[in-house]
Amino acid sequence: MVKPVKVGLLGLGTVGTGVVRIVEGHQSDLESQVGSPIIIEKILVQNKSKERAISIDPEKLTEDPWEIIHHPEIDVIVEVMGGIEDTKGYILEALSRGKHVVTANKDLMAMHGPEILAKAQEHQCDVLYEASVAGGIPIIRTLIEGFSSDRITKIMGIVNGTTNYILSKMSQEGAAYADVLKEAQELGYAESDPTSDVEGLDAARKMTILATLGFRANVALEDVDVKGISSVSREDILYAKRLGYEVKLLGIAERQDDFISVSVQPTMVKQSHPIASVNGVFNAVYVYGEAVGETMFYGAGAGELPTATSVVADLVAVVKNLKLGVNGKQNLLSYKIKKLKTDEQIASKYFMLLHVDDRAGVLARITQAFAEFEVSLESVLQQPNVSNPEAEIIIITHDANKAAVQKVLQAFEGMEVVKSVKSVYRVEG
Ligand code: NAP
Ligand code: HSE
Repeated sequence: MVKPVKVGLLGLGTVGTGVVRIVEGHQSDLESQVGSPIIIEKILVQNKSKERAISIDPEKLTEDPWEIIHHPEIDVIVEVMGGIEDTKGYILEALSRGKHVVTANKDLMAMHGPEILAKAQEHQCDVLYEASVAGGIPIIRTLIEGFSSDRITKIMGIVNGTTNYILSKMSQEGAAYADVLKEAQELGYAESDPTSDVEGLDAARKMTILATLGFRANVALEDVDVKGISSVSREDILYAKRLGYEVKLLGIAERQDDFISVSVQPTMVKQSHPIASVNGVFNAVYVYGEAVGETMFYGAGAGELPTATSVVADLVAVVKNLKLGVNGKQNLLSYKIKKLKTDEQIASKYFMLLHVDDRAGVLARITQAFAEFEVSLESVLQQPNVSNPEAEIIIITHDANKAAVQKVLQAFEGMEVVKSVKSVYRVEG
């Protein structure tokens, strides 16, 4: 009889439950691919007595992580419990004992990826983390393998399902932010602390991973300029739609020559751009390669079964490597030393909504500030504000560097005629 591959599962929440369902439900398909049964031997949970959505042999459950990490028969650890410091300790210990690791944990990989991959290399182990970015979309394998021949110059991602769900519902149904966030939490999309979703940190962690792989450079979380969606108003979304844009929380990683920039921010995306039509909990990653041109990858970015699909695909890859005796050969450690773009080197269009005094000469003073810092304007629209005596001015710039735009905004702070800068968005497409 063929020896089964034994798996220790850390976590039986949303993703862990999906992993059990897929490993059990697709067992014969998996076995026919890898040539041996895959058995989930032990499962780490916080509370063994908790009611579970699936039926599990209680003997398999443990609250002691070391029972799994030190288990002599377990070959692969599948980490879907989340957390950073303790979890990192379990993974490093598992690797030092020669166990391979599959993880869905972007927080861990974005912050400690290099250390974990180095440990894996030292012990000839696999560490695969496909589910850590964009749930069910196989984007990590695509960047490592599919684009190995090309030079990627831009990656744009809707990589957080919770915020995309919120923005889509606000745009399509005029729903209120707080109500939709609650729904996303109930559906299992949001992180246990949803602040990391709405303030852009979850997306920033995912963009750190994508930029590292796409540009083959040592991008760190601190290199990502992050802004979340909590300041996006229904008014902004309405203006965007009226001008032919959708507001999306976009991760944008760009490379020009050897210089890179990575950011996450609410962005106005032209409705004709394919990424503008990605709605709900769906994610998409747009990749531009110098040779291939435009590509886009689309799918469910969160949720039980889509995420578990990526986790189990990694598990299959580990077991195939075990059969071939090639584990630990694919860890990407040859990163280039990054060179970050300065604000003078980061260029894009911008949208601005200003409330200003409604009197002669105001528009001229405002456009003068743009001229002074060499920011060229694509369109300017002025309309009376129905609720007060101020006028609203909507401006879309041509491509302008970020430093110059900051200087224009600083100049507005000192102008008595500018009552408020209601919103500023980067514009794409
Ligand atoms: P979850 O529903 O909160 O489940 C976490 C599981 O881990 C639970 O079973 C919990 O035990 C167990 N656990 C947590 N801390 C533990 C500890 N200190 N000791 C023992 N057991 C512990 O989380 P999830 O949504 O499945 O997410 C898991 C991981 O996948 C996270 O890294 C997340 O970022 C990532 N991810 C999630 C999604 C998604 O759609 N949810 C998508 C992509 C990636 P109890 O059941 O006893 O509480
Ligand atoms: N909270 C994350 C999201 C889960 O909303 O995309 C998937 O990583």
